[in-house]
Amino acid sequence: MKTSVLFVCLGNICRSPLAEGIFRDVVEKRGIGGRFLIDSAGTGGWHVGSPPDPRSIEVAANHGIDLRSQRCRKITVSDFQYHDLVFGMDRSNVDNLRAVAPGSFSRIHMFLDYVHGTGVEIPDPYYGDADGFENVYQMIREGSEALADRLIASTGS
Ligand code: 4NP
Repeated sequence: MKTSVLFVCLGNICRSPLAEGIFRDVVEKRGIGGRFLIDSAGTGGWHVGSPPDPRSIEVAANHGIDLRSQRCRKITVSDFQYHDLVFGMDRSNVDNLRAVAPGSFSRIHMFLDYVHGTGVEIPDPYYGDADGFENVYQMIREGSEALADRLIASTGS
């Protein structure tokens, strides 16, 4: 059975597309990409159907990752039926997810809480500059390496 991981932010154009692309890159480079289903979504629907923000596309491309085929979508109730892990990038993403998830769904976490236990949020870079996007890239890269370590350890291989 594949492990299904969903990354969620507010708009699904800045942070969660980066997380989807970066985590996919991490597991592919480790030769275990086939073990995962990886997706992203937003809690807001303003940009549905659009590609990621050009600044996310650019920072990913600077690190050899191509986000151009991704399209924004809004989270749906069916996302809570099959994902093993649903990660909000910040605390408000997690609150928004908990507000729409069925009461029995307990697999929502703040991303860096789950991997580092730090309570650190991935900040929204939308109204900032390119440096903010590079910072978000580095935070998600570190988190994704740690997530891969943790998931590999938990499956014993
Ligand atoms: P994201 O950033 O949640 O990282 O995709 C945002 C993108 C768009 C908006 C807010 C945050 N917006 O208000 O349109």
